[in-house]
Amino acid sequence: MKNCKTCDFKLKEATVVKAESLCRDIISLRIKLNKGNLEFIPGQFIMLSLFGYGEIPVGITTTPDKKTYFEVAVRSVGTVTRAINRLKKGDKIGVRGPYGNGYDVEELHDKDLVIISGGLGIAPLRSLIEYVGGHKRKFKSLQILYGAKNPDEILYDRELFACDKFARVMLTVDEKNGPWGGLTGIITTHIDKLRITPDLKVIMCGPPIMYKFVIPELEKFGIPDEDIQILLERRMKCGIGKCQHCTFGDKYVCLDGPVFKYSQIKDNLEAI
Ligand SMILES: Cc1cc2nc3c(=O)[nH]c(=O)nc-3n(C[C@H](O)[C@H](O)[C@H](O)COP(=O)(O)OP(=O)(O)OC[C@H]3O[C@@H](n4cnc5c(N)ncnc54)[C@H](O)[C@@H]3O)c2cc1C
Ligand code: FES
Repeated sequence: MKNCKTCDFKLKEATVVKAESLCRDIISLRIKLNKGNLEFIPGQFIMLSLFGYGEIPVGITTTPDKKTYFEVAVRSVGTVTRAINRLKKGDKIGVRGPYGNGYDVEELHDKDLVIISGGLGIAPLRSLIEYVGGHKRKFKSLQILYGAKNPDEILYDRELFACDKFARVMLTVDEKNGPWGGLTGIITTHIDKLRITPDLKVIMCGPPIMYKFVIPELEKFGIPDEDIQILLERRMKCGIGKCQHCTFGDKYVCLDGPVFKYSQIKDNLEAI
């Protein structure tokens, strides 16, 4: 069992101050702690609990610069997430954390960033995108390649289009429906549209299948494994290195991750 020196196991009481449907099965909740603010870095996660249902890990989707509230996006897949999708403004919830390493933002300074995301993977990356947008001078450039099944499932589309002012944004859908002016095809088919530079850092979040196909494409461009970061998800119970539910090999996703350099995990077959 790993020791966690920084983790706070205390449950903080919080209130939903805005609840908004992002698509068919995903809700965005704006949350305010009843006392104080949540200090976190992009890429960290919290344990969100609903009395009578249980507790789940979720990523934070807003920049830490928004001090007084934070947001999460939750897909309805089971017992707890279904109940969370029914929450309304004014409802009470519990928050533990933040936990995990998050992105080493200083390591990304003065770099050309490429964010690659599929489906709900855009949720934790939105925190980093908002952060980069608020500190543009610290980063050389930003490219975003984001894919969803169809136009209705593109999350934060208006915000992403607005990022055009400081980023190169490419949105793609597997199947188009209605009027769609963006790209079509899975993410791998658009990797060759990225501007590849020597100062590149690639940050990815999406389903494991996306990593399996995108990483070999990135390697073809000579991008070192050290410069590819991915966010891993595992079933979690404690979030603080006690229960072992999130382990693979000698790593704990809740403590050593959820953000890993590909070089750290590429030799571990269970990782992805
Ligand atoms: C670090 C981290 C960050 C996450 N961030 C988000 C987020 O921002 N938004 C979001 O919607 N979800 C996120 N998840 C996944 C989320 O925690 C699970 O969907 C949730 O725990 C399911 O709980 P449930 O009680 O609703 O489902 P259950 O009733 O426990 O299970 C329902 C179904 O979901 C599957 N499932 C359960 N847990 C996971 C899991 N961890 N990964 C994949 N499949 C799972 C089960 O196999 C089952 O098929 C994150 C997970 C981790 C580890
Ligand atoms: S050890 Fe419990 S979730 Fe990681």
